[in-house]
Amino acid sequence: MPLSDEDFRAARRQWLRAASLLPMGLVAPAVQAAAGPDGQAPVDLQLHALQTEAGPWRLAFGSCARQSKPQPIWSAIAAAQPHLFAFLGDNFYGDATTADELRARHAEFAAVEALQAFRRQHAHVAIWDDHDYGVDDAGGEYPHKALSQQLFCDSWGEAADSPRRSRSGVFQAYRIQAQGRTVQLILPDLRFNRTPLLSDPGRRTGYERMMAAAQRGNQDPIPGWYVPNPDPAATLLGEAQWQWLDAQLAQPADLRILCSSVQLAAEGTGWECWANFSADRERLLQTLRRQRAENLVVISGDMHYGELSRLDAPGLYPIWDLTSSGLTEVWAVPTPNSRRQQGVVAEVNFGLIEIDWAARALTLSVRDGAGRPRISQRVALDSLRLTSGPDSAPNASQRTL
Ligand SMILES: [Fe+2]
Repeated sequence: MPLSDEDFRAARRQWLRAASLLPMGLVAPAVQAAAGPDGQAPVDLQLHALQTEAGPWRLAFGSCARQSKPQPIWSAIAAAQPHLFAFLGDNFYGDATTADELRARHAEFAAVEALQAFRRQHAHVAIWDDHDYGVDDAGGEYPHKALSQQLFCDSWGEAADSPRRSRSGVFQAYRIQAQGRTVQLILPDLRFNRTPLLSDPGRRTGYERMMAAAQRGNQDPIPGWYVPNPDPAATLLGEAQWQWLDAQLAQPADLRILCSSVQLAAEGTGWECWANFSADRERLLQTLRRQRAENLVVISGDMHYGELSRLDAPGLYPIWDLTSSGLTEVWAVPTPNSRRQQGVVAEVNFGLIEIDWAARALTLSVRDGAGRPRISQRVALDSLRLTSGPDSAPNASQRTL
């Protein structure tokens, strides 16, 4: 039975306490940055984790959970004992063309007992993607986005005065004291302000034809139908959110994790990704350089498979993008990605980042429905610095499978 709003908020406070996460932002914003150009104050919610136990600090994440399907993967995720879980979007499938449909889909989401039980027991943060925002591949044109914003905040237990209810989108950032180090989570909203996608009609053959080709044994990668939009006004984030993101990247952090609902590093997939908005992606890379924002890795979802990509840009450390998509959904059609390093994992999966502060290293992994690592990559923290050092050589990161 779904929880009432009041019960849910009480449960949320309980799991935060249980995980020793004190959400100061629920009481008072820890950092109140200058108001953005749209008059909304970007607020950095600060979480304090008091964990002192030995061993790696663990962030698990996942995306694409259809509410009509069984979700046994939550027990495998719980067994990984994450300190925090990040829902990266398509957390349910709204696909709603009317306000009533959108409300009904949220009610269905609240009734997914395996997922909601996990939420009651584990600290978590969330951002949406197209399907739980509105409809497939939706952007700023979605007519019910104001309602969707409020329903999102209701379903994820945001307070009545949460800035996520009044901004131009549900973007949010968190700082967590993890074993004495600062982890910054940045969750941009890639839907609310996104300008229209550009598609290649010649490639728009439909999902069914692609799946039929794959089932016939075609192993040639089949790209989707979206192409980069050369319009300089084309944007994923919108200007107000850019001002907010710029301010977040100026904050100090021992590790920053950009929680992107769509892939950032991937190139040539033809599906939704930052590459379709190349000016925005270049702006992000330029912002990292200008703010000297080090120690950043990306996690992403949306693709219905897991993989690991890496973007190498001049004057920057390697940008690792660990994609986990498929809490229930799986896309078995081979998809191109020139930045792919490992994968794909075309079965249900979740992602895990383990932070070993003593060894100054991360382990990035994609795990299958039984919790077994199917992709694993060790990344030295010192390889995520802008200045060269003895550990920033190319072999500082190694595949561990
Ligand atoms: Fe999506």
